[in-house]
Amino acid sequence: MSFDIDNLYREGLPAPEGEWTGIPAFSFVGGNNDEANVPVAGLAEAATRVFQREGRKLAVYNLGGSPLGHEALRNFICRKLDIRADTKVEPDEVLITSGSLQGLDLVNDLLLEPGDNVIVEEATYGGMISRLTRLGVVVHGVHLDEHGVCPDHLGELLAQCSAEGRPAKYLYTIPTVQNPTGSCMPLERRLDILHVMAGYQTAIFEDDCYADLLWGCPRPPTLWELDDSKTRVIYCGSFSKSIAPALRVGYLVAESSILQQILSLKTDAGSGALEQMVVAEYAASHFDDHAEQLTSVLHEKAQVMAESIEEAFGDAASFDMPQGGIFMWLTFPEDVDTGVFGAEAARKGIQFNAGAGWSVDPEWGANKMRLCFGNPTADAIREGVKELAEIMDLS
Ligand SMILES: Cc1ncc(COP(=O)(O)O)c(C=O)c1O
Repeated sequence: MSFDIDNLYREGLPAPEGEWTGIPAFSFVGGNNDEANVPVAGLAEAATRVFQREGRKLAVYNLGGSPLGHEALRNFICRKLDIRADTKVEPDEVLITSGSLQGLDLVNDLLLEPGDNVIVEEATYGGMISRLTRLGVVVHGVHLDEHGVCPDHLGELLAQCSAEGRPAKYLYTIPTVQNPTGSCMPLERRLDILHVMAGYQTAIFEDDCYADLLWGCPRPPTLWELDDSKTRVIYCGSFSKSIAPALRVGYLVAESSILQQILSLKTDAGSGALEQMVVAEYAASHFDDHAEQLTSVLHEKAQVMAESIEEAFGDAASFDMPQGGIFMWLTFPEDVDTGVFGAEAARKGIQFNAGAGWSVDPEWGANKMRLCFGNPTADAIREGVKELAEIMDLS
């Protein structure tokens, strides 16, 4: 009798991944980084130094330290948040995760049950939308303007969920360099949001993944810092965008008893210690210079992409200049469905994120598109955008 393991798979699995076909010539998807600006020499030196000094600690889980993660890295994150975002955090309020994606999973595991209400920005990170769909929660999209979450609409949604007897578990927001819109929520708006939330038993999940790559305005304090209760906000950050995504180093910040509860769900015996040691060693003396250099390169690439879009699409595409980060969020005329161009574009070596996947309401997002300028070179941006406009032929 032949054996077929498929028969043993549990119910409800997501569709299997397609086969890996490599990164195409014009890859405008995902959150990849600028290759030329991975600080290879600095990371190599840091790795050598830290290996020689502390390599033997790898003999024990968590380097023999706290399950919250490598102490030097947690200390660095506290310094970084203080200096860059006027945010005061203690080392026992930081948990190192395997990328911030693990942070998203842990917070969802802590808070969500099928049928729960959650509020997210109407356009938001596709990786979060797919997670929430899989968890069977009810996702409400809050309107965005150029300053991020609209407080009035947030108030309406909070009231609606409460009236149903199921207050929203959290508001998931990416306030500083929103993904995909690239906006940055000013201080006043942050205070407005906290004010609106004050009467509700709803947490805030603040994702600051791109915050170290801000060029358009001074960085406001985090919602975590501005929250008086100190328990409403759970914050997450990452070194994926500021150093390199393949390192898989992210972090959660929360009041320490919340982190202790989250730790009970983090059953991986600690995130990779070597990358934590290398990032801590490198970042202690190089992070600010590196982030400044990378941000200016990304700013230039954003300008190249903006010019290329204007040239190739003319009035057919509208967008706001991002305040930082690696994405451009385009809106096309109402009758355009960007998803239909995916296959033809892929045949020509172009990948883009159709707006539907980054929108709570896929119909609302159908005429939108997210383009990432982080990884492709300036020449690839020019050529790929021109080619994409030819495929879409909207003129
Ligand atoms: C808003 C946001 N959060 C989290 C992540 C996950 O990043 P990582 O797990 O690499 O830290 C991404 C990745 O693109 C993102 O855009």
